[in-house]
Amino acid sequence: MLNAIETARITKYFDDITAVNNITLEVKAGELFGLLGPNGAGKTTLINLLSTMTAASKGSAAVWGYDVVKQASAVRRNIGVVFQDTTLDDRLTGRENLDLHGRFYGLDSKTRKSRIKEVLLLVGLYDRADAIVKTYSGGMMRRLEIARGLMHHPRVLFLDEPTLGLDPQTRRHIWEYIKTLNRKEGVTIVLTTHYMEEADNLCRRIAIIDCGKIVALNTPQILKNMLGGDVITLEVENPEDTGNLCKIYESNEIPSTISCNDKRIFITLKDGERRIPRVLALASDVRIPIQSVSLRKPTLDDVFLYHTGRAIRDEKEPGMAERVGYRLRSRRK
Ligand SMILES: Nc1ncnc2c1ncn2[C@@H]1O[C@H](COP(=O)(O)OP(=O)(O)OP(=O)(O)O)[C@@H](O)[C@H]1O
Ligand SMILES: [Mg+2]
Repeated sequence: MLNAIETARITKYFDDITAVNNITLEVKAGELFGLLGPNGAGKTTLINLLSTMTAASKGSAAVWGYDVVKQASAVRRNIGVVFQDTTLDDRLTGRENLDLHGRFYGLDSKTRKSRIKEVLLLVGLYDRADAIVKTYSGGMMRRLEIARGLMHHPRVLFLDEPTLGLDPQTRRHIWEYIKTLNRKEGVTIVLTTHYMEEADNLCRRIAIIDCGKIVALNTPQILKNMLGGDVITLEVENPEDTGNLCKIYESNEIPSTISCNDKRIFITLKDGERRIPRVLALASDVRIPIQSVSLRKPTLDDVFLYHTGRAIRDEKEPGMAERVGYRLRSRRK
């Protein structure tokens, strides 16, 4: 099967910064592929290299079989790009923005008309086509940009942070549109994100990128399974008990990793469901009351921590991520 994208040790320097560092990557035709990484990881630079916006310092890349340097115009004909920053003309209507794009790509008037309708329906904007873009919400603008990227039937669509800054509900709607166009139009999609749930929900495979390098690449499920355990969170009544209880669990060889934070203890272990009773019994034996217990599967947050030792972001459980990350790293040494 044709690879939609192939890179060979592609590298980009900006003075003394190595924004993209020796990346070798293959994305299959029809794939929905994600580049997940924190701010400054090199995601946009990699998209810029692949979409012929910037030239590599070293290495090479091909998109749909065309070399991004030697066959740049063929690459451009076969790709659509939604940039991280919006590039719509907000004084024009949605339809006019799409029409302009169709003209740039040399589509005749009849083709433009029918394609505009198709892409607007695909992103659920047909009813608002003739409103001025300035009156659109952030989510509508993003959907219009996605529609515009699709106008000329690209083989490969690059979406740089497609839902950045949007509220969770709008983000979910956009995920549905992205999935639909991957399925219905058969377009290969490469998206960048620093939202874990986005990568997890949308992408068949993801590359975790940090400091210009790919540190892990696989399906989200395999990446999570590789951590080898579930995460149990316990809350004790008295913060002074957490340290003691951690020691008890460690001496009973309960966890793969363990950490605590005020009243909470985080335990990573295999077969979490089956081992909760033992975890609770050990606390009960030493008369440490447990206020709550929860079990969750590892998230991509945990995966990122494992590979980089840092959290991409840590909204839900402040302080926990870094600690777990430290433990995971220390186990690897
Ligand atoms: N034109 C440029 N000139 C100098 N440095 C640059 C340029 N573009 C990017 N960089 C640097 O390259 C590194 C990677 O930047 P890039 O924009 O690719 O990251 P990113 O992963 O897209 O981040 P974000 O999540 O913030 O969008 C950063 O250190 C950035 O400062
Ligand atoms: Mg970026």
